[in-house]
Amino acid sequence: MKGKNNQKQEENQKAEEAPMEKKDEGYFDQALRPDNFNDYIGQEKVKENLKIIIEAAKRREETADHMLFSGQAGLGKTTLAMLVAREMKSGLKITSGPALKKVGDLAAVLSNLEPREVLFIDEAHRLNHLVEEFLYPAMESQKLHLIVGKGTGARTISLDLPPFTLVAATTRADLLSAPLRSRFGASFKLDYYNQQDIEKIIIRSAGLLTVKIEREAIRILAEASRATPRIANRLLKRARDYAEVRGDGIVTEEIAKKALELLEVDFLGLEPHDRKLIQVVIEKFNGGPVGIETLAAALNEERGVIEEVYEPYLMSVGFLHRTPAGRVITEAAYKHLGIKTREQKLLEEAGF
Ligand code: ADE
Repeated sequence: MKGKNNQKQEENQKAEEAPMEKKDEGYFDQALRPDNFNDYIGQEKVKENLKIIIEAAKRREETADHMLFSGQAGLGKTTLAMLVAREMKSGLKITSGPALKKVGDLAAVLSNLEPREVLFIDEAHRLNHLVEEFLYPAMESQKLHLIVGKGTGARTISLDLPPFTLVAATTRADLLSAPLRSRFGASFKLDYYNQQDIEKIIIRSAGLLTVKIEREAIRILAEASRATPRIANRLLKRARDYAEVRGDGIVTEEIAKKALELLEVDFLGLEPHDRKLIQVVIEKFNGGPVGIETLAAALNEERGVIEEVYEPYLMSVGFLHRTPAGRVITEAAYKHLGIKTREQKLLEEAGF
């Protein structure tokens, strides 16, 4: 049996061999990642399905079907890919849509796969079309179709690939082409976590980081974590820093609140960019509806970032609606930011 750390090191080394992009600090922060299904909190339905798929594949001595994980950043797509490889006792190679710029990049990755290895492609919606088409025969029949030569002398040769499992992840399943989507044997959407599960994750991480944290502080950090484990762990680390520098090392209720205040994260996890979006829709567009392109221009932000990063959480807490006429800010958002709605102002003016 390989030691846990050895296996982790190997995974990291393999990940580095594949064409890679720069990742944020969290990407390499392996310490808090659960490395078996029992330690993985939440996403119960997904876990149950994965366990069945893996167990059945193992009994048949086959590779598991290709899988797609979709959902917001930080919800555990990469962790699940790692768990699939680990449970299958297979190696893992990690790459991403944007890192596979040319067909040759993908050919290199595929032809270097070991039998039964798991290939993880993050940000699959950013695969270029040519690369994507090259992936189809590899997924369907484990074949690599290479074009050799040029012009009239060009011909296609087919190379056999070892059996492998492709695990793809995307924050935007809606942007994946239908032919690619249809080639996955299983597709799972990861949801935001509930408060209880985020609290459990914070407790687990605090244990691993040997941070002392009070019950009320756990609740506060969990509530501000946007229902996302990666953010919960990040807030825990910042609160630990604050406790060590300004306190006696214990994350108390007061320390948690002060650390969040310093980070400009409010008690529901809204950050300055969220508040700005809400304020702009209210102040410049009367609370909406406003079209996404107009909003992007007003915020000087890319449409994709607004749709992919800002809006999902604002919608999940009920502060923003996407309507056919455009984005609309809800009454709950006015209340949260302490801004009066037009109706409230009119009523006050009328003496109510
Ligand atoms: N750390 C990050 N995500 C986690 C999860 N889903 N379960 C346990 N620990 C985690």
